[in-house]
Amino acid sequence: MERTLSIIKPDGVKRGVIGDVVKRFEDSHIDIVAMKMLYMTKKQAQGFYAVHEERPFFDSLTDFMSSGPAVVMVLEGEGVIARYRKLMGATNFEEADEGTIRRDFATDIEKNVVHGSDSPESADFEINYFFNSFEIVA
Ligand code: CDP
Ligand code: MG
Repeated sequence: MERTLSIIKPDGVKRGVIGDVVKRFEDSHIDIVAMKMLYMTKKQAQGFYAVHEERPFFDSLTDFMSSGPAVVMVLEGEGVIARYRKLMGATNFEEADEGTIRRDFATDIEKNVVHGSDSPESADFEINYFFNSFEIVA
């Protein structure tokens, strides 16, 4: 059984689409096995996105991620990493398929409502970044 990390980013929380995003997981029979709201510091956002340290958007991205509360979740299911990436849609909402979360709710390439792990290795790092084993339901 695979797990992945989902974040409803600060723009999604501010715009009131937590329920819409969660509904899509439930409708897709993707199990939520951990969930909490947190307000990342700039340092925590930098640590989370360390793989993007050298990218031109890193400073703006980590400012954005530490600009308000976010909802972090662990999702579980067969092939959930790829299934959730498909539900999210492309990074740039203008290129995202119809009916994807980003196409429907994002307003900007940066403020794109959701994060999802892109591989088993990043899922492992990202889940452990925010959750300990007691916070994930068996
Ligand atoms: O989130 P995803 O895996 O689809 O994209 P990424 O390439 O891992 O980039 C991480 C995040 O950086 C994106 O979700 C955007 O919020 C932001 N980003 C940006 O602001 N400008 C870009 N040209 C690319 C990404
Ligand atoms: Mg990514």
